[in-house]
Amino acid sequence: MLIRIPKGWEIPQREATPEGVYCNRRDILKAAGLLAASPIAALAAPANLYPAKVNNQYHLDVPVTEEWAATSYNNYYEFHPTDKQAVKDRVGKFVTEPWSVAIGGLAEKPGTWDMDKILNTFPLEERLYRFRCVERWAMAVPWTGFPLASLIKAVDPKSTAKFVRFETVNRPDQMPGMREAPYPYPYFEGLRMDEAMHPLTMVVTGLYGKKLPKQNGAPIRIIVPWKYGYKSIKSIVKIDLVAKQPGTFWNKINSSEYGFYSNINPKKPHPRWSQAIEQVIPNMDRRPTLIYNGYGDWVAGLYNGKED
Ligand code: MTE
Repeated sequence: MLIRIPKGWEIPQREATPEGVYCNRRDILKAAGLLAASPIAALAAPANLYPAKVNNQYHLDVPVTEEWAATSYNNYYEFHPTDKQAVKDRVGKFVTEPWSVAIGGLAEKPGTWDMDKILNTFPLEERLYRFRCVERWAMAVPWTGFPLASLIKAVDPKSTAKFVRFETVNRPDQMPGMREAPYPYPYFEGLRMDEAMHPLTMVVTGLYGKKLPKQNGAPIRIIVPWKYGYKSIKSIVKIDLVAKQPGTFWNKINSSEYGFYSNINPKKPHPRWSQAIEQVIPNMDRRPTLIYNGYGDWVAGLYNGKED
């Protein structure tokens, strides 16, 4: 008899949105006969997207972080360059609707996608992921979104596209932190094409069964759970498929401390601190850091010791 031993992250979750309560826009429209009957209905501004259906493939081996903690301890330098607890108090003037993302570069079908088109095209689902900042603080949260691979496939990448470059919105008038520290804004990040196409890599529009809060990167961000948090760029307005490895915001600021790959590795210390343990918000309880944040079975095969 074949006995399947669950992986660490496959222990059943306890605190994600229960499957029964999700409410999927497509299902509602289908039930109302609207999807087939009227193309106009499918183009209307999406409603009732959250909570989305839970994808039970992604389980946690650690407790889910309380919502208040994950939404009040943030790294978002454009709003506050030093105080993580002050970010949420500074997002009030940030306008996230309407929003659009320009997706281009080495793509056969480049274009500008507004949020309604994105939300109408890609079905949302909820996934529980561990999240680990390079500064050692860690959490585990239910993100809502869809695979980045779906968005990339939709623009039909050319064979010369080897990397993906992402850029955050550039609005110093609405983002007070941008005026307070001399960083090379707008924030920019990048992934290798196979990392971007990996099924774990998500485009995220929601958190805890609701629309993504502004301090967590509304209205649209990336989540790459096996990499340090700075790779998970927030409030994206531009995605380009490119031939060469793109530069990244933190690498430009300090290339000896923040490499392109930035995979979570307890054995590779940051130049200024050990990465062997992580500290869980809000109490900063310590626990061991896991290689690739616990996702090694999924992603170790992407690398041959080449990553930094
Ligand atoms: N994206 C932008 N545009 N600006 C930022 O300052 N900080 C990064 C990442 N994405 C950041 C960003 C860092 S360092 C981390 S750890 C995560 O966002 C934090 O995400 P969270 O606040 O949702 O936990």
